[in-house]
Amino acid sequence: MRKKVIIGNWKMNNDKQETENLLLNLKNKTWNKEIEVKVSPSFVNLEYAQKILKNSPVEVVAQNMHYEEKGAFTGEISYKMLKSINVNSVIIGHSERRTLFYENDDTIKRKIKTALDNEMKVIFCFGESLEDRKEKRHIKIISKQLDVITNGLKINQWNQIILAYEPVWAIGTGLNATPEQAQEIHKHVRKEIATTFNKNLADSVQILYGGSLKPNNSKEIFFQPDIDGGLIGGASLSFEDFYSIIRSIDKN
Ligand code: 13P
Repeated sequence: MRKKVIIGNWKMNNDKQETENLLLNLKNKTWNKEIEVKVSPSFVNLEYAQKILKNSPVEVVAQNMHYEEKGAFTGEISYKMLKSINVNSVIIGHSERRTLFYENDDTIKRKIKTALDNEMKVIFCFGESLEDRKEKRHIKIISKQLDVITNGLKINQWNQIILAYEPVWAIGTGLNATPEQAQEIHKHVRKEIATTFNKNLADSVQILYGGSLKPNNSKEIFFQPDIDGGLIGGASLSFEDFYSIIRSIDKN
């Protein structure tokens, strides 16, 4: 049985005070223990977030990291730094990193290897652009993006992976994928994993949807059989909206 997961990706939002307000609110709430809730604040607030969330089941996740352990990489953060403050999960491959910060498949692959080799969990994001979808090549593009993670991955490393399908055209646009569109991709991804590895594994991988998830569309999307939760941007900045999205999966 796959556990449901809700992750708030705050991107470059929330200063220290806003981080505190949001997390104190969250800490006061309860939900079904089987749901994994995670938040991803900016680097400068990771440690503070950990402190606020002490004794809470909410996990703190990093938004990015470099593939090297240390060195002359001005402005970068390493897995070693993250692990030293007890942050053990990282988002890799987000479309904003790919497009705005020119991360290519090679960089992404190296980051994933570093994270996995150092016992970190990876939330791997993938998804097609609007042009890809219009040209009906979205499935092909997604298979190619998935190759980056599946190629060379050992079976026993899959428990360190959470997949997140985030169609680029749905991120921050208010235009979410329909439940059917998202389900089609999630099902396809499981099929590919089953072919490359095996069905048991394909059935056990957590696959999240991300892209304009809001309290008014999350329930329908989470209801799909191959969707295990969400990676939430804008709506995770409001405590009420984020909590309402957690509640919407709770009731499924
Ligand atoms: P929005 O929920 O703001 O569309 O962002 C989704 C996302 O990019 C999460 O990583």
